[in-house]
Amino acid sequence: MSEGIFQNTTVIAVGSGKGGVGKSTVTANLAVALAKQGLKVGIMDADIYGFSIPRLLGIVGVKPQGSEEGIIPVEAHGVKVVSMGSFAENEDTPLIWRGPVLMKVLDQFMQDIAWGELDYLLIDLPPGTGDIPLTIMQKIPHAKMLLVTTPQSSASHVAGRVGHMAISAKLEVIGVVENMSYFLCGNCDEKHYIFGSGETKALADDLLTEVIGEIPLETSVREKSDEGVPVALEDEHFIGRIYKEIAGNITNKLK
Ligand SMILES: Nc1ncnc2c1ncn2[C@@H]1O[C@H](COP(=O)(O)OP(=O)(O)OP(=O)(O)O)[C@@H](O)[C@H]1O
Ligand SMILES: [Mg+2]
Repeated sequence: MSEGIFQNTTVIAVGSGKGGVGKSTVTANLAVALAKQGLKVGIMDADIYGFSIPRLLGIVGVKPQGSEEGIIPVEAHGVKVVSMGSFAENEDTPLIWRGPVLMKVLDQFMQDIAWGELDYLLIDLPPGTGDIPLTIMQKIPHAKMLLVTTPQSSASHVAGRVGHMAISAKLEVIGVVENMSYFLCGNCDEKHYIFGSGETKALADDLLTEVIGEIPLETSVREKSDEGVPVALEDEHFIGRIYKEIAGNITNKLK
């Protein structure tokens, strides 16, 4: 990949240790929140085998067009999106690539896209420390790492390994988002920490970074994701406000 690629763009790789903790949901909502600030934002869905960004942004089945400069990303809610899901025959087609073929696909994914000007590129990584996260960290060493975890120690310790891998690859870990942090039952104002608390702070300390946001477990997050309309689009929604704050924390930090 050419050294110049993404040079004027802040690249944030969104990773986690365990699967299902909400990386893609956080990526989609954070991208929308950044775009709402007037920034030019792209998402690269690098979860080649487990792509889910097209569904979260309501663009399942929308095929990207080609141009002389490369593939033109699909626009969704003000965000430019490239996902292997857009090239798959349909959403249920498994993509079976290994070794050199996977690396070639990843290279093309990074080189052959006509992103245009971008302020931020968010990369939705697959969970864990496998080939794809490692390759991306090596190919984009100026990328920042944002970790997503749920509060349980079983999630935060695995996320810690990804954080340390990022540090070894010389990526700055800009923060940890604790997703499914607490539950508001609707009967009281109290936050119910059903998955526990304290582990994410310990993880952030260990990685010499900070907890950059806490997102509650909330039905509308899942519902809106399934509808392809990220909840962060709604300013008046309390989750929308939380994402706005996280986006602000990130842009301030990276100024
Ligand atoms: N704060 C939340 N409240 C309620 N549901 C959530 C929340 N965050 C994510 N979810 C739901 O949890 C599920 C998993 O989220 P998501 O797909 O974003 O996780 P992931 O870490 O990207 O998973 P994978 O490792 O498979 O890529 C989805 O159904 C999503 O809608
Ligand atoms: Mg995902």
